[in-house]
Amino acid sequence: MYTDKVMDHFTNPRNVGEIKDASGIGEVGNAKCGDIMRIYLDIENDIIKDVKFKTFGCGAAIATSSMVTEMVKGKTLDEALKISNQAVAEALDGLPPAKMHCSNLAADALHEAIKDYIQKRGK
Ligand code: FES
Repeated sequence: MYTDKVMDHFTNPRNVGEIKDASGIGEVGNAKCGDIMRIYLDIENDIIKDVKFKTFGCGAAIATSSMVTEMVKGKTLDEALKISNQAVAEALDGLPPAKMHCSNLAADALHEAIKDYIQKRGK
């Protein structure tokens, strides 16, 4: 029921961890299940240099978290803000319909982390 890409990112998640003194941190909870994702960004000149995540959640949440970190590394903030939950799910070759809500965490946490960075910089 899960694609090979979902299984790959679930069993071997990329960029797990924390960034000390992160430029921006975003944390979101999934209202449907209570799962939580936190994402850390290291930003320089409006480019995402590094990104790490910690997710307390189901396999689909971990796979989408992992995928979104790969999608944003090296991107500008504007490009990263355009990444949608749908785009993350598509990058994983899709999620089962009952698991689509799990993809909400990844892009939402990313957008929160960018907002956190912008607020800290007083922009
Ligand atoms: Fe909670 Fe998937 S069941 S994010």
